[in-house]
Amino acid sequence: MKPKVYVTRLLPKDAMDRILLNCDAKVWEGELPPQRDVLLENVADVEGLVSLLTDKVDAELMDRAPKLKVVSNYAVGFDNIDVKEATKRGIIVGNTPDVLTDTTADFAFTLIMSAARRVAEGDRFVRAGKWKTWGPQLLLGQDVHGATLGIIGLGRIGAAVARRAKGFDMKILYFDVIRQQKYEQELGIEYAKLGRVLAESDFITIHANLTPETHHLIGPKEFDKMKKTAILVNTARGPLVDNMALYEALRDGKILYAGLDVTEPEPLAADHPLLKLDNVIIAPHIASASVVTRTNMGLIAADNLIAGLKGELGPAPVNPEALHNKQQ
Ligand code: GLV
Ligand code: GLV
Repeated sequence: MKPKVYVTRLLPKDAMDRILLNCDAKVWEGELPPQRDVLLENVADVEGLVSLLTDKVDAELMDRAPKLKVVSNYAVGFDNIDVKEATKRGIIVGNTPDVLTDTTADFAFTLIMSAARRVAEGDRFVRAGKWKTWGPQLLLGQDVHGATLGIIGLGRIGAAVARRAKGFDMKILYFDVIRQQKYEQELGIEYAKLGRVLAESDFITIHANLTPETHHLIGPKEFDKMKKTAILVNTARGPLVDNMALYEALRDGKILYAGLDVTEPEPLAADHPLLKLDNVIIAPHIASASVVTRTNMGLIAADNLIAGLKGELGPAPVNPEALHNKQQ
């Protein structure tokens, strides 16, 4: 008998095949996430859950899933999961790091470049039939090469963005709660306090985890410290930035531009004030969305699931200590 699992969305085919080969899987095939009550009903008798960042996996869900051994999140971030609670109950949590690092860094750089050079605005301009001739002052933007890049949160993805920035001769500052001397040497980048990173950077890119401590890490006070020409890019999690403060900073010219792959909430309502501004590019949370990477994330999620069902650690456990808390 294969173990029962619930999968909250169709993943790329190779990942689904691996899951179906090893598990008795029920799969939610809707385009939107399962409603909370559907999710709670379906975890009642499963030993494994494959979740997305849109599924809240909290104590209530774990109460409703007495047989649950493993939660395999199809994402590198896992702020949707109460990991402490899972650990206490001996439930292993897995995520999908590493395979998406370069793809996500590519996209952070895409937003840096397209915000700097007003690519989306230019496209709207052309489509609206406004392009009359080559204009000396048309859609002037900011140079990326030679500018100062501030990285907030220097993990794997932040470091991968730094590597790209080196190719553009950028000066790189970073802030992290933990100083990363290994990367300082490898990448020739400089640690600075958050205030200095905010004040001196032409581009600020966020790669921090979302936790209660980092919620609204960038708010009104932080925007006040930034250059008027600063460009803010967020590919991490929406709630790291106070959205209203960002709106006001962009509207009032406290900063120049923003490039967002994540917002608070997701999705943004069609009438959200940010969408009325020209100086922000908003993508629908697609930084890891390349064909190859989404498949690789699925394979890791499948392996985390399958290992957890056997009471073992897969390739990317978030809370290996959960194994010690397992009740037999
Ligand atoms: C996506 O945001 C992820 O955490 O993988
Ligand atoms: C995320 O995986 C990071 O370490 O940046």
